[in-house]
Amino acid sequence: CGIVGYIGNKKASGILLNGLSALEYRGYDSAGIALVNEQIEVIKVKGKVADLVSQCLSIGSELNGTIGIGHTRWATHGKPSKENAHPHSTKKFAIVHNGIIENYKEIDEFLIKNGYKKTSATDTESILLLIDYLSQNINTLEALKKAISILKGSFAIALIHLGEEKIYAAKKESPLLIGIKDNELFLASDLSAFLEHTKQFIVLEENDIAVLEKNGQFEIYNNGVKVQRTIKSVDWNLQTAQKGGFKHFMLKEISEEDEALANTIYAHIFNDKINMDIDEELLKKTDKITIVACGTSYYAGLTSKYFFEELLSIPVNVEIASEFRYLKPIFTQNSIFIAISQSGETADTKESLNLAKSFGVKTISIVNVQESTIARLSDYVLYTLAGPEISVASTKAFVCQLAMLYLFALKIAQLKGIEIKPYLNELMSLPSILKTEFSRLNTEVEKIAKKYANVKNFMYLGRGLSYPLALEGALKLKEISYIHAEGYPAGELKHGPIALIDENTPTFVIAPNFEPLYSKTISNANEVKARNGKIILLSDKFSNIADDFVQVPNTSYFFSAFVNIVPLQLFAYHIANILGNDVDQPRNLAKSVTVE
Ligand code: G6P
Repeated sequence: CGIVGYIGNKKASGILLNGLSALEYRGYDSAGIALVNEQIEVIKVKGKVADLVSQCLSIGSELNGTIGIGHTRWATHGKPSKENAHPHSTKKFAIVHNGIIENYKEIDEFLIKNGYKKTSATDTESILLLIDYLSQNINTLEALKKAISILKGSFAIALIHLGEEKIYAAKKESPLLIGIKDNELFLASDLSAFLEHTKQFIVLEENDIAVLEKNGQFEIYNNGVKVQRTIKSVDWNLQTAQKGGFKHFMLKEISEEDEALANTIYAHIFNDKINMDIDEELLKKTDKITIVACGTSYYAGLTSKYFFEELLSIPVNVEIASEFRYLKPIFTQNSIFIAISQSGETADTKESLNLAKSFGVKTISIVNVQESTIARLSDYVLYTLAGPEISVASTKAFVCQLAMLYLFALKIAQLKGIEIKPYLNELMSLPSILKTEFSRLNTEVEKIAKKYANVKNFMYLGRGLSYPLALEGALKLKEISYIHAEGYPAGELKHGPIALIDENTPTFVIAPNFEPLYSKTISNANEVKARNGKIILLSDKFSNIADDFVQVPNTSYFFSAFVNIVPLQLFAYHIANILGNDVDQPRNLAKSVTVE
């Protein structure tokens, strides 16, 4: 989602709308603005910023006001609709918000007892009503402070109040910046929103509350104390800003995997219990799971099979959608069908879902885009909270899909009385591991990529769940670098593909330290070595067989996929970048494939 705010001497609406267009890459299912006039004026639409612009144009010159806030939304709580679009407002206040409020249901209970009624399904409206309630006895700043002390979760908030020429802002774990220009101030969740007006800005820090006034005056408080923050400046253009300083969306999206994972995982865990809105009886009696998807989503499914079967001891079939839709599927009486799709629009996956439905099987979809076709068609939806993925090659959606599949397996295990605490703990530890390790892995992998950028063929090997990772690593490389790559089960190498190995065909070996798979995989790597092949080893355990070694963080076997995927994605990225390819929009590919 994207936040924008303006306070100054110009008409705010145009500035806000331009800011929102620049932020649209962050989410685009609904948008809105709110202005302080004689009353709080809110214009919002379901759809793109262009739809909001037409709506504003139809209102025309009456759209006065020099103070306002705006938002472009990527739904997390509540489907995309006008009601759920931001800003949310009461007679006195309007608010926009990025982030997730974990305790909004408790807040709602409190508000309902105090006579409030929500008009949307969002957690944002809970913040608004809480502030409205608190402001009965105290001023806006105090009400905001009080509200924030009650909120659990992450937020970047912008708030306007009727009768005050001010914008209030608050930040926790979600970025918020103040743009500074003479007598004008801007507020935004990222620089892109105000770059055309100013390159001077302040980055709000954790728990900062800011009050922006007319004439460029502002104050920042932290824990009740007034603080100073340094004014910075950039010489970025709009495109660089949208990519957060990264050269490509793909690299930015890989760097966001920790946050995407945290959002996806924490949204479903409360007090060691997994929360999912799915009929528990259905889950308890499940005796077979069929997973269907395309491309990277298919590999997420295939990777999860190992965990499902280990944990639940029920068969899990993972099928490619374009194949499955023309098969005669075999479902048991208590089968569950899962469709995985980032976009929620992939034609083959959709038709596979329809096929499963025609057999009367209960369907669940794991989807990133809210209200997409596949989400609407399935009986239950589990949304990954990866945020918009712009690069055609899927990265952060993959780790979120995998996390969601693990959560789903754990949910069934919990219902069956299986001890899941150690797994849950490890899953919850992943975001911080990825956060700590990203830049080291990025630097190391870039160095290796430089060495191999002129190679024409690559082999990727793994055993167990590292086998689907080998497939995904090879797919990433093919997609964006246009280099031929094969993924194979390490043990199958000797049955054919070993004929491809020579000194010009390097092999990625993915070998988590888990016996006997580690030793067996290293033996296969030896077969490659004996044919003069170079080995790039990805592992938490070194072996001197490696010509190049990427030390991945240590996890238990089933969680190794989450850390091993990162260097595989980074390798493909750096090779494609070195070759000068159009990384985010590779030739011949589309982000969402709605044809058969
Ligand atoms: C296209 C994209 C891939 C994606 C696949 C499945 O081929 O280029 O990145 O993995 O579709 O897309 P879905 O949206 O269903 O996950």
